[in-house]
Amino acid sequence: MSHLLFEPLTLRGVTFRNRIWVPPMCQYSAEHQDGTATPWHVVHYGGLARGGAGAIIVEATGVTPEARISAQDLGLWNDEQRDALIPVVDFMHSQGAAAGIQLAHAGRKASTYPEWGTEHEGSLPEGEGGWRTVAPSAQAFPGLEAPRELTEAEIAEIVAAFAASTRRSIQAGFDFVEIHAAHGYLLHEFLSPLSNTRTDAYGGTLENRSRFLLEVVDATRAEVGESVPVLVRLSATDWTDDGLSLSETAELSVWLKAHGVDLVDVSTGGNVLAQIPVGPGYQTNFSAGIRERADIPTAAVGLITEPFQAEHILATGQADVVLLGRESLRDPNFAIRAAAALRHEIDYTPAQYQRAYK
Ligand SMILES: Cc1cc2nc3c(=O)[nH]c(=O)nc-3n(C[C@H](O)[C@H](O)[C@H](O)COP(=O)(O)O)c2cc1C
Repeated sequence: MSHLLFEPLTLRGVTFRNRIWVPPMCQYSAEHQDGTATPWHVVHYGGLARGGAGAIIVEATGVTPEARISAQDLGLWNDEQRDALIPVVDFMHSQGAAAGIQLAHAGRKASTYPEWGTEHEGSLPEGEGGWRTVAPSAQAFPGLEAPRELTEAEIAEIVAAFAASTRRSIQAGFDFVEIHAAHGYLLHEFLSPLSNTRTDAYGGTLENRSRFLLEVVDATRAEVGESVPVLVRLSATDWTDDGLSLSETAELSVWLKAHGVDLVDVSTGGNVLAQIPVGPGYQTNFSAGIRERADIPTAAVGLITEPFQAEHILATGQADVVLLGRESLRDPNFAIRAAAALRHEIDYTPAQYQRAYK
């Protein structure tokens, strides 16, 4: 019996062996605080590839030092960082998985204490290695230091930084890139009227609020050429009445498609404090909405944990790909488990492990 989960997907020049992918998840394990990957990244991403995922998207990776959420984030603003990612990518490829990377700027949510290993939370003071954050407007995210408003010249520099990191991603061997425009980080801050009160060409109408993201998309596409897929992660809604809504993000997705984006990774929230009705598959309807209204491939994410649930999301046309985050941390072999549950034969269970499945 055929199952959509195991049907290959082709985007431009890349064919993915299945549609069970791993979304970007910060590891806060660049322990030298220089943005460089460590053995943790080789083992972590390698294990996910060995477990049968079709693609793995490496965690939010800062395009400049100030773009990082914490000093423990990965970065890709120099060639040493690129070179440290090569063994990570090579091992993922040796296991048959496609390798993606999420390029990111954390905006007003940058310069925070690491998620663990400290009693502190919130903004990391400048005296302790923190830095002044930037945003579309000088409005703080609740609980964090107030950012500084970016000038138009600085916006252009950040577009160029995304392009330079994209170039290094391709040099490191990544098959595709994802631009992080979700979760209240810089590009989402520009998209949302709740965090963007600018009166220049980057604020006001949806078209103006989208300008920065579309410039990043254009610069990324120019860098990768025609055969490399470019993905964008969006927060489809701010979960508030006056914030970003599905109708706006669906319209934006039409423009993303026209600018050469191949798939929208549909998440939600993160820009303001809001009540989010969290439950199994709680964001898949937003993926379905964008897929239908913008006629663009989408990925669904958020509390997808079961093989039949994942298959159902694809079978009902809500998405082209499912992303499993925390479930992949609990079980890096989820794709192999799903194949067994659906009685679907796959030929990429590692030879070393096959006796475990006889
Ligand atoms: C440890 C951890 C780190 C995360 N880091 C990122 C990240 O770097 N970029 C991002 O877009 N989302 C990040 N997320 C969100 C996940 O990609 C995903 O959207 C979210 O966990 C919901 O999916 P799930 O219910 O399958 O875990 C992170 C989530 C977790 C649990």
